[in-house]
Amino acid sequence: MPEELKIIFYPDPRLRKMSKPVKDFGPDLALLAVKMLDLMRTGQGVGLAAPQVGKNIRLFVMNATGKPEDDRVIVNPLLSDPDGEESAEEGCLSIPDIKTDVLRLKTLRLNAQDVNGKPFEETATGFVARVWQHEIDHLNGTLIIDRMGALAKMAHRRKLKDLEDKYAAAHPPPPPPPKPPPKKKRK
Ligand code: NI
Repeated sequence: MPEELKIIFYPDPRLRKMSKPVKDFGPDLALLAVKMLDLMRTGQGVGLAAPQVGKNIRLFVMNATGKPEDDRVIVNPLLSDPDGEESAEEGCLSIPDIKTDVLRLKTLRLNAQDVNGKPFEETATGFVARVWQHEIDHLNGTLIIDRMGALAKMAHRRKLKDLEDKYAAAHPPPPPPPKPPPKKKRK
């Protein structure tokens, strides 16, 4: 039975890895994308990146409007032609209960492939460009907590510590190796 896909949480180390480009476009990738869109919707998110389900590949899903026809699967994304900057509040499905202002580029061009490997290009301003940047950050192991200011860090310290404690409790370190028997002393 395949392992059930679920969203992983800060400070899981898989959220910190650099993800690898997707090379195999096939039914497995399409199925992963469908499952991720489901998880995103259940979590009431606007985007979900593959590392957030423990897969370190350069793929994310998003839906900026909530309408089913606006589901997008974005593979091997590249951003270019930045213009302007804008700060707005963001949350992240892997860091529950934390919302923070993040400064992002306002307008960007995206070059990527769809779930079948077909290349496409799009330009966006504002919210959609923000989602692209948030999700591509995930593909590079970056989280919104890395982009928040010192004050916000202090304000959220307790919540982050709670998440760290929860993770530590669920992932106890392995027991130390047994000690070798004491060496017999020669008389
Ligand atoms: Ni996120």
